[in-house]
Amino acid sequence: MSYAAFYQKSIQAPEAFWDQEAKLIDWHKPYDQVLDHSKPPFAKWYVGGETNLCHNAVDRWLATQADQPALIAISTETNIEKTYSFAELHAEVQRMAAIMLSLGVKQGDRVLIYMPMIAEAAFAMLACARIGAVHSVVFGGFASKSLGTRIDDAKPVLVVSADAGMRGGKAVPYKPLLDEAIALAEHKPAHVLLVNRGLDEMKLVAGRDVDYATARAQHLDAQVPVTWLESNAMSYVLYTSGTTGKPKGVQRDVGGYAVALASSMKHIFCGKPGETYFATSDIGWVVGHSYIVYGPLIAGMATIMYEGTPIRPDAGIWWSIVEKYKVTRMFSAPTAVRVLKKHPLELMRKYDLSSLKALYLAGEPLDETTSSWIATELGVPIVDNYWQTETGWPILSVARGVEQTATRLGSPGVAMYGYDVRIINENTGAECAANEKGVVAIKGPLPPGCMQTVYGDDQRFVNTYWSNFSHEQLYSTFDWGIRDADGYYFILGRTDDVINVAGHRLGTREIEESISSHPQISEVAVVGVEDKLKGQVAVAFAILKNPELAETPEQKRALEAEVMSVVDKQLGAVARPSRVHFVSMLPKTRSGKLLRRSIQAICEGREAGDLTTIEDPSSLQQIQAALTA
Ligand code: PRX
Repeated sequence: MSYAAFYQKSIQAPEAFWDQEAKLIDWHKPYDQVLDHSKPPFAKWYVGGETNLCHNAVDRWLATQADQPALIAISTETNIEKTYSFAELHAEVQRMAAIMLSLGVKQGDRVLIYMPMIAEAAFAMLACARIGAVHSVVFGGFASKSLGTRIDDAKPVLVVSADAGMRGGKAVPYKPLLDEAIALAEHKPAHVLLVNRGLDEMKLVAGRDVDYATARAQHLDAQVPVTWLESNAMSYVLYTSGTTGKPKGVQRDVGGYAVALASSMKHIFCGKPGETYFATSDIGWVVGHSYIVYGPLIAGMATIMYEGTPIRPDAGIWWSIVEKYKVTRMFSAPTAVRVLKKHPLELMRKYDLSSLKALYLAGEPLDETTSSWIATELGVPIVDNYWQTETGWPILSVARGVEQTATRLGSPGVAMYGYDVRIINENTGAECAANEKGVVAIKGPLPPGCMQTVYGDDQRFVNTYWSNFSHEQLYSTFDWGIRDADGYYFILGRTDDVINVAGHRLGTREIEESISSHPQISEVAVVGVEDKLKGQVAVAFAILKNPELAETPEQKRALEAEVMSVVDKQLGAVARPSRVHFVSMLPKTRSGKLLRRSIQAICEGREAGDLTTIEDPSSLQQIQAALTA
């Protein structure tokens, strides 16, 4: 079947289409209804059906490939490399599940996972899925305030963590940040389960903290049967940034997600049982959920969990892994490729990469230079794919498992099946013509696998995503884009205050709130500025309560470092602005709205745009002056 016909079927007869795709997973009880869209924009897939993500990822493969590799945990930081077969993974997940049950975790309870890229993190996610607990993984790069906010929103009964992670040869403490986060939060989890890697000293809080190794030893023979869950039960909550300072909990289901992953692994990622998949992301991001942990395992593939950087011990490390484990499909981000491009090519060329069939890149715009370079080096197709935490799997790409559709440089591809993608004029709400810029929107219902709602806040889900255009049931991605006459899309940046630093999605408002907590700062604006390596970096412009404090260059530098360390401490180094400039005024409209886009334009050397509503144009000169100082 041509991709065009496949796509049309998914849009014109979604129920028949997704009924067919549902056969890719195991169901304990068949569903009564493929789709319930009676209360739009909420969509319920596979109503009445019962299944389980852990069963489909692990147990399902025991009959045919129990001894085949399932999870390959590689740390170039601690030099630990361990392969777990499906049978071993099954045993470890049951041990973890038994520990959780013994700590009082029940179906529907939230378990927050704040962990480095170690095998136990995957055990914990799969164990939650097994017993019907809802995991909420928080990226290890986030610090105490980010973590505390998420603890208060998710209200976990248990937190699973570790003493430390390791990056670039240095231990990165987790436990002290977690303790601080729990102290900051109003909600107190009953227990904290800790993996002690021996990287950092760890003091256990009596009555609350539990040592994982000790608990595991008590549950070595644990047998924890799968809890069958109604398809629309919650599987996880993953927080993501938006326009406000308060991260949104993206809530996902069980059955729809399992089908979407099985289906995308087949049609987009073309994975086959017995092969090895290597996604270089982190479990703290959506790529880690969909394509490190669940997707590859649901497809019966071995998946690699990698702790380390792309350049240690040298820039050949990832390719040595591809050679050693005969990786067939690899998934990374454009920034990582740009980092590798700066290193000697021999490091890459000395490995046998003949197993590799394609490299998938996502998370940020893929520039043509990077794409062409890596395509030539690897000699395999580079498959850009565009999606969001909210959707859980690609919105735009090419489905090479259906048809070998051509890719187009600079474009993530065409609309993926199930997604009725529209480009909408932001003012009129009408559909844009070919090559006309508008907001990338998706007509509801969203396909299986996409977010069900904002955790604990249905109204916020409706208001945030479904109320941007007056006409139809349209979901806004908050990305600008165009579609060319052949149906290829081009993504042109966010319409909101979200920025993308090295593929990490961050809210400028969160960073502003953190900087404002510094006692000397009275006001601040943070914008995302184009960067050759990271795509974007955060740049801050701050007004001081007492300007005399930053008159000399030395004073400015010292204060800048102080502000940066506030962000490091509260949000994590991942959110640290690359520069903090001090000004006495910020560009605002007469009604007091910050003109972030004008600031961004000046930082990028462009015209400041429409300034008819600006209160005081000299504020822009200050921005310009600060940049050239
Ligand atoms: O702006 C788009 C950008 O990243 C945002 C979503 O980030 P996140 O929720 O972290 O999910 C990442 C899943 C891969 C999008 O709204 N983005 C993501 N992929 C691409 C992209 N921009 C351009 N090209 C892409 N391939």
